[in-house]
Amino acid sequence: MLRVFGAILTALTVTGSAGFSSAQSWVLDGVNSKLAFGSIKKNKIGEVHRFERISGSVSETGAVQVEIDLSSVQTDVDIRNERMRDFVFGGQTTGTLKAQIDMAGLKSLPVGGAGVVDSAITLSILGRDIPVEADLFVLRITDTRVLVSTDSMVFVSSEDLGIDDGITKLMGLAELSGITRTAPITARFIFNADSSAAAPAIAPVKAADASTSGDASKGKRVFNKCKACHKLEAGKNGVGPSLAGIIGRPSGQVDGYQYSDAMEQSNLVWTHDLLAQYLRKPKDLIPGTKMLFAGLRKDSEIDDLLAYLEQETQ
Ligand code: HEC
Repeated sequence: MLRVFGAILTALTVTGSAGFSSAQSWVLDGVNSKLAFGSIKKNKIGEVHRFERISGSVSETGAVQVEIDLSSVQTDVDIRNERMRDFVFGGQTTGTLKAQIDMAGLKSLPVGGAGVVDSAITLSILGRDIPVEADLFVLRITDTRVLVSTDSMVFVSSEDLGIDDGITKLMGLAELSGITRTAPITARFIFNADSSAAAPAIAPVKAADASTSGDASKGKRVFNKCKACHKLEAGKNGVGPSLAGIIGRPSGQVDGYQYSDAMEQSNLVWTHDLLAQYLRKPKDLIPGTKMLFAGLRKDSEIDDLLAYLEQETQ
C-alpha cells in the first residue's frame, strides 16, 4: 500500500536535484489524524479501538516516521485499556511506523490530485521490526496539506507483533473463548508543510525542473517508438490514448478511449516514478494492460523521454 506513498509523497517536497538548496519537511496533524485497529471476540463481536496520541513527520529526504503512544490506547472500556497497556504492550510506551518516500513523485501530484501508492512500511513495536506491505491513498488537499490513508484494511497478526501471550492472558482475564489473532488496521494521516522551517512553498506542478535529468531532444527520438500508437495532442486517441499532460495525470481516464479493465481500474497518478516503471515493463506494473510494448530497457532513454513529454505536453 505504501507504493502510493513512494510516488505521491514525493510531491511533498521540493527536492534538491534541480538546484533547490532548501527542502521542506512535513509534520503530522495529530488532531485530524487517526490510527485504529479492530478485534473480534467470541467469533462474532467486532470492536474498533484507536490510539489517541500519534505524532510524526516526513523529513526533507522522504523519511516518514510516525510515533504511536501505546499508552493512549482507547478501547472505550477503562479496564480493557489498562489490561492492553499492561499485558499486551507489556508497559512499553512507544511504537514507531517508518517508511521511506521517493520525493520525486509527489511533486507531480497537483492540488486536488489523488492516487494509490504501494508502500513498504516497517512497524517497530515491542522490540520487533515488522514489515508491512500496504496500499495507501494519497490526496493533495492544498499546497501545504496532504492526506495519506490506508486504501483498504491492512492486517497485522498478533504472532508477528509478538503479543500472542498477552492476548491469551486477556482472554483468561475476560473469560473469553476467543479473540482473533489478526487485527485489521486503518490509518488516516494528515501532514502539514512545516512552516517553521521557513521553506519555500511546494514547487509548481508544471515545473519542468527537478524531476527529470533527461535530455528532451534525445527524448524526441525515443518517442518515435510510441508514435505509432500515441499522439501528444489532447483529444486525439489512436491505438493508445492521447498522452497530453500525461505527467501528473490519473491513469486510465482519457474520455472516449476504451481502456483495458486493468488500466481503467488501476487508480494511479502518472508520476515520473510510475511512468518509468510502466515504460520499463508495462505488464509488471499493470498486469492485463493491453499496451503491446516490450518496454524501454535503458534508464537514460526513459529519462530523456520523460523530459521530452514534460516539455511538449505539460
Ligand atoms: C503498439 C501500440 C503502443 C505503443 C508502441 C505504445 N503504447 Fe502506450 N498504450 C497503448 C495502449 C493500447 C494503451 C492502453 C492500455 C490499456 O488500456 O491497458 C497505452 C497506454 C499508455 C499509457 C497510459 C495512459 C493513460 O491514459 O493512463 C501511457 C502513459 C503510455 N501508454 C505511454 C507510452 C509511451 C511513452 C510509449 C513509447 C515509449 C508507448 N506508450 C508505446 C499502446 C501503445
